[in-house]
Amino acid sequence: MFPERRMRRLRNGKIRDLVRETSLSVNDLIHPVFVNETIDSVREVASMPGIFNVPVEMVADDAKEAADLGIPAIILFGVPSTKDEKGSSAWGDDDVVQRAVREIKNELGKDMLVITDVCLCEYTSHGHCGMVDFETEEILNDPTLPLLGKIAVSHAKAGADMVAPSGMMDGMISVIRSSLDDNNFKDVPIMSYAAKYSSAFYGPFRDAAGSGCCFGDRSTHQMDPANSNEALLEAALDIEEGADIIMVKPALPYLDIIYRLKTEFEIPMAAYNVSGEYSMIKAAAQNGWLDEKKVMYESLLSIKRAGADMIITYFAKDMAHMLK
Ligand code: PBG
Repeated sequence: MFPERRMRRLRNGKIRDLVRETSLSVNDLIHPVFVNETIDSVREVASMPGIFNVPVEMVADDAKEAADLGIPAIILFGVPSTKDEKGSSAWGDDDVVQRAVREIKNELGKDMLVITDVCLCEYTSHGHCGMVDFETEEILNDPTLPLLGKIAVSHAKAGADMVAPSGMMDGMISVIRSSLDDNNFKDVPIMSYAAKYSSAFYGPFRDAAGSGCCFGDRSTHQMDPANSNEALLEAALDIEEGADIIMVKPALPYLDIIYRLKTEFEIPMAAYNVSGEYSMIKAAAQNGWLDEKKVMYESLLSIKRAGADMIITYFAKDMAHMLK
């Protein structure tokens, strides 16, 4: 009790560094990249200042820049030149992500871990994450699963080091695991978007990836932001099905979920600091209302403090610069 106990004793100068409980390292960062097959020079995403669509031919340069900053991993999202009802441009050997993976691996080999997002929404003409029954506008679960397996295998074949299914279809992890195993990719890990919420914070991403939908929404498969117990069940199921890493997405509005999952499960956990979380800070900074660098650091640190082992963030390069 005061006056014997003075908390301020440990807050000043070098001792503050000594007692710091959480640290952020460049090794915690995953750099997201939008590879776009329809452009031949980089194009800035209007709602995400500083983030670009990158042509396939230039993706290795972008990855090299990240590697030079010490960033260990990138995650690829594809923007294809053709879309159809089934999302057929998601699994061809010469489709956008498969080509991008090869470009990066040829250039950087083991110096960059390449993760691929496995979902259909960027490749379907209707923008949904699965097959659709157009009569009822239902997003069909089971018919979607084999396609996800096929996409994951095609990414692994191209050289992807890890796949990250984000479609929130039930059973997707076990189907992807067995598809990978059946095709001799038993050592390719799965990072599952286990607790992915139906969030308005994905708005700028849909702008960047051209994956907005023309009818309906994602609320029949993504989670209700009101639920927390359900996230535990989702994660438990994904782990049972074979997920090697579980993810919570978005990050900042769901720090309680990150904390709960970290407390409950022993497997490594990722958090996705999503597009809207990035754009909010950028917009406020552009208005001179917030100090961008400090807010970026404090946000990412809070995600680690909550329990995430790694963070997918559009700030990866900026944060890496700052940590240097
Ligand atoms: C689906 C996917 C989405 C994001 C990552 N993977 C969008 C969605 O569910 O609509 C969002 C990421 C972000 O907002 O930064 N392939």
